[in-house]
Amino acid sequence: MEQQNLRSLLLIRSCVLAVVLLAAAAGGRDSRAEAAVLEYDWEVGYLAAAPDCVEKMVIAINGQFPSPTIHAVEGDTLVVKLKNNLPTEGLSIHWHGIRKRGTPFYDGSAFVCQCPINPGETFTYKFVVDRAGTYFYHGHLAMQRATGLFGSLIVSLPPGKTEPFSYDGGDVNVLLSDWYHKYIYQQEQGLSSIPFQFVGEPQLLLIQGCGKYNCSLDLPPGGSTASSSPDCLQCNATNPACAPFVLPVQPGKTYRLCIGSMATLSSVNFKIENHILTVVAADGRYIEPFVVDNLDVYSEQSYSVLLTANQDPTQNYWVGVNVRGRKPATPTGLAILQYLPNSECLLPPTPAPMGPVWNDFAESVAQAQKYSAKKGLESAPRTTSHKLLILMTQNIINGYTRWAVNNISQVPSATPLLAAFKFKLWNAFNQTPPPQRPPQYTNNKHFDSFATPNPNTTHASLGNGVYVSKLGEVVDIVLQNTNTLVPNNSEIHPWHFHGHNFWVLGYGEGVFDPRNSTKTYNLVNPPLRNTVAVFPHGWVAIRFIADNPGVWPFHCHVEPHLFVGMGTVFAEGIHKLPHIPSQTLGCGLTKPTSW
Ligand code: C2O
Ligand code: CU
Repeated sequence: MEQQNLRSLLLIRSCVLAVVLLAAAAGGRDSRAEAAVLEYDWEVGYLAAAPDCVEKMVIAINGQFPSPTIHAVEGDTLVVKLKNNLPTEGLSIHWHGIRKRGTPFYDGSAFVCQCPINPGETFTYKFVVDRAGTYFYHGHLAMQRATGLFGSLIVSLPPGKTEPFSYDGGDVNVLLSDWYHKYIYQQEQGLSSIPFQFVGEPQLLLIQGCGKYNCSLDLPPGGSTASSSPDCLQCNATNPACAPFVLPVQPGKTYRLCIGSMATLSSVNFKIENHILTVVAADGRYIEPFVVDNLDVYSEQSYSVLLTANQDPTQNYWVGVNVRGRKPATPTGLAILQYLPNSECLLPPTPAPMGPVWNDFAESVAQAQKYSAKKGLESAPRTTSHKLLILMTQNIINGYTRWAVNNISQVPSATPLLAAFKFKLWNAFNQTPPPQRPPQYTNNKHFDSFATPNPNTTHASLGNGVYVSKLGEVVDIVLQNTNTLVPNNSEIHPWHFHGHNFWVLGYGEGVFDPRNSTKTYNLVNPPLRNTVAVFPHGWVAIRFIADNPGVWPFHCHVEPHLFVGMGTVFAEGIHKLPHIPSQTLGCGLTKPTSW
């Protein structure tokens, strides 16, 4: 008992407070008849934070890490007035998963949709959150997202609409992320050096911004996850910030967890010991519910899962987050599922939960294939008018290690591409669009996605051309993975499309075969998403409608991959681009030339 009281004192509550029960947070909203305008005043600055008990400078909004969670209702207009108080760097914020129809200039991707916001400047984002779901926002200039500049954007249904599932316990936001002790400036420098220095594996995985470094470093040799030593999770009272996240539940009730990942490198697996999760939505769209014991979450995907507190209520349970797809050198991230009225300090009696073996990719693919759109929702067009095959390769270009897409390794243009199209600044970027098919793939029979490429024979170059689609056309993209420059190694790449959702038609192993692979497509009820994982050595096929006039990044969401070129840009409806607000301009060729 003595011991228990001591634990109560030591297990500090800061992370407990991070649990947001939406029912309470959105109180009063239900009576509202019309969409609202939600205004935020944000100041962005450096903050000495210690999310894992190790102090590090982060970029914070209004002094908070993770950045504040936005709760909005479908149809609301968000007005975010952002003051950049960073003395030495510009920034921009992308609203991930929001389509920004009619306001492509407020998408937030630096050098595509806007100029970075300079130190001292104030910029106002204004856009409509047109669909309910769990979304995010994050920095979108170089690797800035990895400094902690990210948060959740949760959009609820308006009065009169109901979810196609029920739960009585409320909503809980669970934002996952990986965490490095090295600053992004060092990471960026290493990635742009000869020899190339990769960022390495993260020091830990955070749950809702909480974790504790050096708490569970006893990795079993070659094992998939760490076995944590629970006692370590008590934080000392002088360092209250680093207690584990606690998720309180009432026995018998069902909760909706809004799980999202902000990880910069890691794909993660989420598990609650002894509990089953029912997945009901992905990237904000409803799916046919299915049940899992553990959930794969790729960078910047979001999931709604139902959790029923139906286990022995006399104890608490571990929530465990483990690395997927890369040989783990990061301990299991831990949180506590607290059965009320147990104390949140009652540590579960069991070892940390393990996910599937890190390189069991068949398991990951099988789980990815379980997703299908909820019946009657947003069916995909049956045919396509345009087909692209995008090959992602690792290359050496002028001695630098880069990622390329159809042999073009993306470099930002100094002029925002949206403005370049609008104002016909054709010198701003490469006028030749990237190839529709990779040259080395003209005959897929001679291509082997398992072979280690010879860096001397891949002819990649730096570029920033744009794929231009006709407004309204249906476009299919096959994303083909390859072996990296390291023998027998291929990586997971979560690809995200700005401004659109796409249907995921299918996944396959090895090389995509235009004749036979298409026969395996799900055209009946493919899920509609904004981020999809491309698995090692395999391919994924997606379909989208180019119906959102604007200029939109399409890229791998692994921060160090994007930083060395793993992305491209699509544009559509160029003749229909809206007026561009001047606050987004002022860099590159958009500088005023006369006074
Ligand atoms: Cu969440 Cu371009 O990214
Ligand atoms: Cu990648």
